[in-house]
Amino acid sequence: MTHRAASTTMEFQENHRSSQILEISLLIVLGLWSLRGAECHQVGILESCTYRSTNCRAHTVSLKDFGGVGDGVTLNTKAFQMAIDHLSQFGSNGGGQLVVPAGKWLTGCFNLTSHFTLYLHRDAVILASQDMNEWPIIAPLPSYGRGRDLPGGRHSNLIMGSNLTDVVITGDNGTIDGQGKIWWDKFEAKELNYTRGFLIEIMYSDQILISNIKLVNSPYWNVHPVYSSNVIVKGITILAPVDVPNTDGINPDSCTNVRIEDCYIVSGDDCIAIKSGWDQYGIAVGMPTQHVIIRRLTCISPHSAVIALGSEMSGGIQDVRVEDITAINSESGVRIKTAIGRGAFVKDIYVKGFTMHTMKYVFWMTGAYGSHPDEHWDPKAIPVIDKISYSNMVAENVTMAGKLEGLHNSPFTGICISNVAIGMAESKKPAWNCTDIQGVSSSVSPQPCVLLSEQRSRSGPCPYPSDKLPIENVEFKECSLQTTHI
Ligand SMILES: *[C@@H]1O[C@H](CO)[C@@H](O)[C@H](O)[C@H]1NC(C)=O
Ligand SMILES: *[C@@H]1O[C@H](CO)[C@@H](O)[C@H](O)[C@H]1NC(C)=O
Ligand SMILES: *[C@@H]1O[C@H](CO)[C@@H](O)[C@H](O)[C@H]1NC(C)=O
Ligand SMILES: *[C@@H]1O[C@H](CO)[C@@H](O)[C@H](O)[C@H]1NC(C)=O
Ligand SMILES: *[C@@H]1O[C@H](CO)[C@@H](O)[C@H](O)[C@H]1NC(C)=O
Ligand SMILES: *[C@@H]1O[C@H](CO)[C@@H](O)[C@H](O)[C@H]1NC(C)=O
Repeated sequence: MTHRAASTTMEFQENHRSSQILEISLLIVLGLWSLRGAECHQVGILESCTYRSTNCRAHTVSLKDFGGVGDGVTLNTKAFQMAIDHLSQFGSNGGGQLVVPAGKWLTGCFNLTSHFTLYLHRDAVILASQDMNEWPIIAPLPSYGRGRDLPGGRHSNLIMGSNLTDVVITGDNGTIDGQGKIWWDKFEAKELNYTRGFLIEIMYSDQILISNIKLVNSPYWNVHPVYSSNVIVKGITILAPVDVPNTDGINPDSCTNVRIEDCYIVSGDDCIAIKSGWDQYGIAVGMPTQHVIIRRLTCISPHSAVIALGSEMSGGIQDVRVEDITAINSESGVRIKTAIGRGAFVKDIYVKGFTMHTMKYVFWMTGAYGSHPDEHWDPKAIPVIDKISYSNMVAENVTMAGKLEGLHNSPFTGICISNVAIGMAESKKPAWNCTDIQGVSSSVSPQPCVLLSEQRSRSGPCPYPSDKLPIENVEFKECSLQTTHI
C-alpha cells in the first residue's frame, strides 16, 4: 500500500492482551470496538463524526441526494448506482464518499468505484432485496469454473467491486441485512437454479478496507475478497443463525496481503475460510492466498471451523499467521480441508494463542474432503500440506483433541504442536486419531498420537515468524464527516 503517515494519521495501537477467561476477553474486545469505531457528536439537529480510514475523501454525497428513500419498502438500487456513478468522476480528484443515513434502504445489487468510501450511519440498514431479479446472473469465478452451489453462472453479489483501487466500506456500526431466509429455504428445498450471491464481493482490486459495520443474515458468504491485494477487515460484526447453510464470515480467496482483526462472528459455517480456487480451475488460475494475518477474532461456529484452510485451495495457501483467537461452541479450531484433485499446497501456517470452550475438535485436518466441480479433476493433482505450527492453546470441554488424517502415500508433514492444554469432555472416543501425518509435539496434553509423539528438541516451541507482514504497517487517517450529509 502506498498510504503514508500524515500529521493527522492515527495509528491503531496494537493490543495483544488476551485472557484465558472468556468473560474478560469478550469485555476487552467490546471495549476495543467502542474506542475504535466512529465518534459522533450531536449539536442541535446536526451531527458530526470522525472515523478512521485508510483514506479520507474530498467529495461527499448522501443517498438522499439521489432520490433514496429509507422507508424499507422503496427500492433504492438506482439511487445507489447513480450516486456511485456520480462519485466515480472524483477518483483522481480527492475521491468520493457516499453516506447512507439513518433509515432502512431496500436495494438490489450495485457496483462500487475506485477511491471511494461507502459510509453507514449507525442507524442505517441496507436491506437486501428478496426479489431474485434484483440479483442478476453473472459469470462464475474463473478459479471455480462454475457456481459453487450449482453449475453455470451465479447470482450477483449485493455490494460488488471489480478492478478497483482504494475502496472503503465503513461507518458507525451501521447494518447490512441480507434478509437471507428465502435463499436458505430455497437452497435447502433445492429450488434454486443458480448459486446464491454474497453480501460483499471485491474482485481484481487493490487497497480495500472493510471496517466498523455489522453484517446480518447473508444469503451465502458474507465478505469475499478475491483476486485482490492489500485487504484489511477490521472491527466488523457478522451474525447469522447457526443452523443455516454456508453463511461463512470472511473468505479471502486468491488474495495477497490480508489483515483481519477485532472481528466478532457467529455463523452457520466457517467464521473465516481461506481459499484459492477449485481443482483444475483453481490450478489453471494459479493465484495463491498468502501473507495473511488474523488476530483478535471471537467466533461461534457450532457446525464448522473457526478458521478453515480450503477446501478450495488449488492456487495454494501460504504464510498465514493467526493469533489471539477466542472460540466458543465451535466444531473445530484451525481446520485444513483438501482432496486429491486440488493440487497446490497449504504451507507455512502459524497459529498461536487460542482459547476455546466447548469444541468437537481442537485440531482437525483431512485429505479426503472430496467435493469436485465436475468429472474433469486430475487424480494426479496431489495437494502438499507442510509446516503447520500450533502453539499456546487452551481448550475446555473438548470431544476429540485431534483428528489428523493425511493422504495415503503423501502424508501431511511438518506438523508441530507445542504448549497446548486440552480439557476433555467425557467421551468414549480416543482423544487423538492420526493417520498419514508426520510431526512433533512438546508440552501437549492429553498425550498426542504416536505420529506426533517425538518431542521437539531443545530448539523450543513451534515456530512463529518474528517479522511483520507489510499489511501490518498500513496506517489509518482520521476523517471527518460533514453534518449536513447525515
Ligand atoms: C459497535 O458494535 C459493537 C458490538 O455490537 C459495540 O460493542 C460497539 O460499542 C459499537 N461501536 C460503536 C462506535 O457504536
Ligand atoms: C457490476 O459489475 C459486474 C462485474 O463487473 C457486471 O457484470 C454487472 O453488470 C455490473 N452491474 C451493474 C449494475 O452495473
Ligand atoms: C479486470 O481485471 C482482470 C484481471 O486483470 C481482467 O481479466 C478483466 O478483463 C478486467 N475487467 C475489466 C472490466 O476491466
Ligand atoms: C428455476 O427455473 C424454473 C424453470 O425456469 C422456474 O420455474 C423457477 O421459478 C426458477 N426458480 C427460481 C428460484 O428462480
Ligand atoms: C460441554 O459440551 C457439550 C457438547 O459437547 C455441551 O452439551 C455442554 O453443555 C458443555 N458443557 C459445558 C460446561 O460447557
Ligand atoms: C481413525 O481415523 C481413520 C481415518 O479417518 C478411521 O478409518 C478410523 O476408524 C479411526 N479410528 C478410530 C479408533 O476412530
